[in-house]
Amino acid sequence: MGGRVVVVGSANVDVVVEVPHHPRDGETVLGGDVRRTPGGKGANQAVAATRGGGAETTFVGAVGRDESAELLLSSLERAAVRTDLVDRVDAATGTALITVAPDGGNAIAVAPGANSHVRVDAARSARIAEADVVLLQLEIPVDVVRSAAAAKRPDGRVVLNAAPSRRLPAGVWSLVDILVVNETEAADLAGGLPGPTTTGTGLDDTTVDPAALVEALLDRVPAVVVTLGAEGSLVAERGKRPLAIPALPVRAVDTTGAGDTYCGVLAAALSRGASLDDAARLATAAGALAVTCPGAQDAIPTAADVAALAAGSTTATGR
Ligand code: RIB
Ligand code: NA
Repeated sequence: MGGRVVVVGSANVDVVVEVPHHPRDGETVLGGDVRRTPGGKGANQAVAATRGGGAETTFVGAVGRDESAELLLSSLERAAVRTDLVDRVDAATGTALITVAPDGGNAIAVAPGANSHVRVDAARSARIAEADVVLLQLEIPVDVVRSAAAAKRPDGRVVLNAAPSRRLPAGVWSLVDILVVNETEAADLAGGLPGPTTTGTGLDDTTVDPAALVEALLDRVPAVVVTLGAEGSLVAERGKRPLAIPALPVRAVDTTGAGDTYCGVLAAALSRGASLDDAARLATAAGALAVTCPGAQDAIPTAADVAALAAGSTTATGR
């Protein structure tokens, strides 16, 4: 049985070009054909919670009145995400400009547009209060993130994927039950340790010890998951020994949205009562499958495929 998840966050059309390498400062790079595909961290995570995790999922977000909005709504609906609380606003639908390199890594610039108008009103608060898990990211205004977290019911849980990296007011930290970050985001949050700024893939090589980051973050939130790209992930809860979950071997085609797939499947598993460790194992399998296909939402696997890979009966390379 699936639990109930509400995702409050962004929806973007991803405008994607495959390039031989990401453009450097001042450089122009010629790439392949342009693709317009459904993305945005919030919408990606909502699709992942539903298709990849089997949860009954509502997406709370905002889109414009343009063609991009139709692309996003139809992707959400195809995945059986509830979209009745998605606002139509007088702003352009969020747009992400993405380059994808031959190793599957990406660089992303986002024009938030309609995502700046996401709101948590009485109807949205009521839906959040029905959820087992509220799943949040940082591509919408931080005060909206705080209102969404505050609307959870007493025994509901707040999962915050602190991406992209930005400063969080104290009032948000106290509402978070489980923090999910990549290594760069973890370093930023743990107190401004140096490191490259966000790619969302967790593949950046910082020299900071992940275990030390986890310790620092556990001072602020009761549970932390740090995704480490090819190194897997670290799952830590206060008062328990941290668990290292190895990555599954994959041939990466496009890592865009793999972190979102991880978060959505994690939230879905938690919503039906799975332990954090078990939820992270499923999320790892889902993230592995997601990098083997191009696109963000288009690459999110089904719950059956996720379960098969997590159980070891298939491999992520055979897709
Ligand atoms: O996390 C990947 C997502 O980040 C992309 O889909 C893009 O829209 C940006 O929001
Ligand atoms: Na992908």
